[in-house]
Amino acid sequence: MLHENLKAFPENFLWGAASAAYQVEGAWDVDGKGVSNWDKFVRIPGKTFKGTNGDVAVDHYHRYKEDIALMAEMGMKTYRFSVAWARIFPNGSGEVNEKGLAFYNDLIDELLEHNIEPILTIYHWDLPQALQDKYGGWESREIVEDFRNYCITLYKAYGDRVKYWVSLNEQNIFTRLGYQTAMHPPGVKDDKLFYQVNHHASLANAVAIKEFRTYVPDGKIGPSFAYSPAYAATSKPEDILAAENAEELSNHWWMDVYAWGEYPKASWEYLERKGLAPQVEKGDFALLKEGKPDFMGVNYYQTTTFEKNPLDGVTMEGTFNTTGKKGTMEDTGIPGLFKTITNENLERTNWDWNIDPQGLRIGLRRITNRYGLPILISENGLGEYDKVEEDGTIQDGYRIEYIRTHLKAVQEAITDGVEMIGYCVWSFTDLLSWLNGFQKRYGFVYVNQHEEGEHDLRRIKKKSFYWYKEVIESNGENL
Ligand code: BG6
Repeated sequence: MLHENLKAFPENFLWGAASAAYQVEGAWDVDGKGVSNWDKFVRIPGKTFKGTNGDVAVDHYHRYKEDIALMAEMGMKTYRFSVAWARIFPNGSGEVNEKGLAFYNDLIDELLEHNIEPILTIYHWDLPQALQDKYGGWESREIVEDFRNYCITLYKAYGDRVKYWVSLNEQNIFTRLGYQTAMHPPGVKDDKLFYQVNHHASLANAVAIKEFRTYVPDGKIGPSFAYSPAYAATSKPEDILAAENAEELSNHWWMDVYAWGEYPKASWEYLERKGLAPQVEKGDFALLKEGKPDFMGVNYYQTTTFEKNPLDGVTMEGTFNTTGKKGTMEDTGIPGLFKTITNENLERTNWDWNIDPQGLRIGLRRITNRYGLPILISENGLGEYDKVEEDGTIQDGYRIEYIRTHLKAVQEAITDGVEMIGYCVWSFTDLLSWLNGFQKRYGFVYVNQHEEGEHDLRRIKKKSFYWYKEVIESNGENL
């Protein structure tokens, strides 16, 4: 529907930006922190763009005060960050590292002193390597108890001041890239294991939420799901069915479990026939149902378009563009279910990610209609090359346009009746992109950090910084 007038953003709308520990902190072996799976993985030659790693990242660990001062200058209402499990428990369990706890304590206090609402992500992909070595990390159900213990430690330490929590960041991505495409640690390709690992992660998510009710009864918690709404390539019924298959197996497979504690039917039947369905133990579904979130966290970057994939069609083997050379992304799929196809109606970034603000509105409405949960956009943003001009400025008008059009889509969704909690841009400062190095930049604040050459880590406010400041000041009135 076309709206003549849009509803205003809610009064208490959380305007913010997000980050993740491994991508910003650096200080990888400082103050008693243990080694994480990423600390290890990035040292394997060929795994990341030009061998970049998060040893220093953008040194937020030492510069968080400077970064928070910039957030305050911008008028940011919320900052979403993640805790590195290996800072709190260097071995994943056992003795707590007090210095790790103190770091996030100070960070939270600094945010609150600047009137910035902290949103704490419990797990954003950096698993203590000790747990991977001990029992295969997410491969074992043992992780659920260690995760419970880690969560309770955080709730007790920060629950008095932190009221918004994200349980797992993009469970669908870290399990798939870790166990289906082998692009993330532990670099395994095993479909059966992928579904099993994912089931353990769902149990851990439910346990995190269940415990939260006891320790932070006045807080709100939810997962951050990487939602790429599925489109059909054409109006041919077989393409529509392919898109349905994709929406169910790639999206509902996670969101149904979060919201209802159930796996979607047709996908479950399919995986059972293939011998890929996870092994479920007595009590699992009861636990999953107990883990109902307060909101659906959505990380939205793009839609994906699908068409029919024959039984001997493409697999998940296609190349992923991690170089920034446009046109190098290959189609992927599951034979007999669906395959991706380029959507010629959409512009793409240099990393071949579709730019589709309307897809965000569509996705928000789908979630609202299916689950009836409020939504927090926990990530949305544009990864692009940025250039420091001779006069020292960064003219990232393309980023402003990306965020502006996506915010407009959010406002349209609000007008449609979607209940929105807030909107976190990925990211506040530039940071390390897991596989794409430092050249794929997302921030409002440029950080002089590169794969090669000089990198004094100085911060420079981009044009988008000043623009977002005004958006916040006017509560999104002048988009
Ligand atoms: C999300 C992650 O998948 O997208 C972030 O939660 C990530 O950690 C972001 O950085 C952008 O992805 P990329 O690959 O461009 O860095």
